[in-house]
Amino acid sequence: MDTLALRPTPRRPIWVMRQAGRYLPEYRALRKRHAFKEMVETPALAVEVTLQPMRRYGLDAAIIFSDILVLLAALGVSYEIVEDKGPVLARSIRTAEDFESLSHEPVTDSLGYVYETLSILRKELPPEVALLGFAGAPWTLASYAIEGGNSKGGFSAIRVLLDSDPALFGKIMDRITDGVIDHLQAQLANGADAVQLFDSWAGMLNEADFRRAALPYLKRIAVELEPGPVIFFPKGASQWLTKEEVDQFKILGVDGSQSLGFYREKFGQDFVLQGNLDPAILITDMQTIRTEARAVLDSHGSQPGHIFNLGHGITPDVPPDHMKALVAAVHEHTFKETT
Ligand code: CP3
Repeated sequence: MDTLALRPTPRRPIWVMRQAGRYLPEYRALRKRHAFKEMVETPALAVEVTLQPMRRYGLDAAIIFSDILVLLAALGVSYEIVEDKGPVLARSIRTAEDFESLSHEPVTDSLGYVYETLSILRKELPPEVALLGFAGAPWTLASYAIEGGNSKGGFSAIRVLLDSDPALFGKIMDRITDGVIDHLQAQLANGADAVQLFDSWAGMLNEADFRRAALPYLKRIAVELEPGPVIFFPKGASQWLTKEEVDQFKILGVDGSQSLGFYREKFGQDFVLQGNLDPAILITDMQTIRTEARAVLDSHGSQPGHIFNLGHGITPDVPPDHMKALVAAVHEHTFKETT
């Protein structure tokens, strides 16, 4: 939490996206006995999965085990995670009738399991460990809603809707944005110290379309969730942001396409940066992991305001020992910084 306030810390904090998941044998063991959705919706199981990487690695933040798709379920579009296929939604939202059929109940009414999981976690975790909630960003959630699940065709349906019926596109986006704000607010009220907004598909857009179709909704969240804190992660698009936009977001998660030094040089010191080791490095070997982790740390420099993370989620093929080596490399290196 000190890092989020740009205060110096005894060591650089680290957590990684998707830290609770399939690369951990203890996750796979539990997953054999329970469906993904059951794990997400049962607080005792979601608490257990959230804590699995914390026990192994001593990370500085825990991110609640949940999914971005729970919000679509709360809006009336249920999902399933299908083995080797990813998310499949019960229906898609493409027409005015589809839009009208979305639930009118407050999303928080059906997401009580998320808030209960967070309140249990806040009590179980030591106070110095940050607890993170999250949601999908409107563009990324709309991509799934309009497509009806994972897209093989590069999310063509949402791209078509954006041009063929911008008014309907805007209505769908506004509705999702309202839900995201309510869901994030409720997570902050129930024990989350900060929340991350995953715009995982922002980089599918070109810069002009990102500004038209994704950014206005991110800005609305930044304004309405004041004082946050919200970690904005517009994957593949952060290099397009202006200084004013970064000042508005305050905390920016970045992928590995540009160095942290690039962002510091472009936007100055007055915001928090999170990232950005290439997840593929975790599959290499211990020495490469240490060298590359150090390169990320050095690229940022030793001033406060850096949360170490990957540029995207950890992949299921990472050996658990490699993750341990990464945490050790980050903690050892940065401990020297302030002593
Ligand atoms: O970071 C964490 O450890 C917290 C848990 C978390 C999950 N999903 C658990 C999960 C988080 C933060 C997410 C976010 C999420 N979900 C995103 C944005 C992050 C990103 O990586 O870009 C997206 C796009 C989704 C949608 C989703 N959920 C997909 C595409 C898939 C299947 C493919 C995959 O990556 O595994 C899921 C399922 C899912 N969500 C799993 C986990 C651990 C695997 C499910 C299983 O056990 O079969």
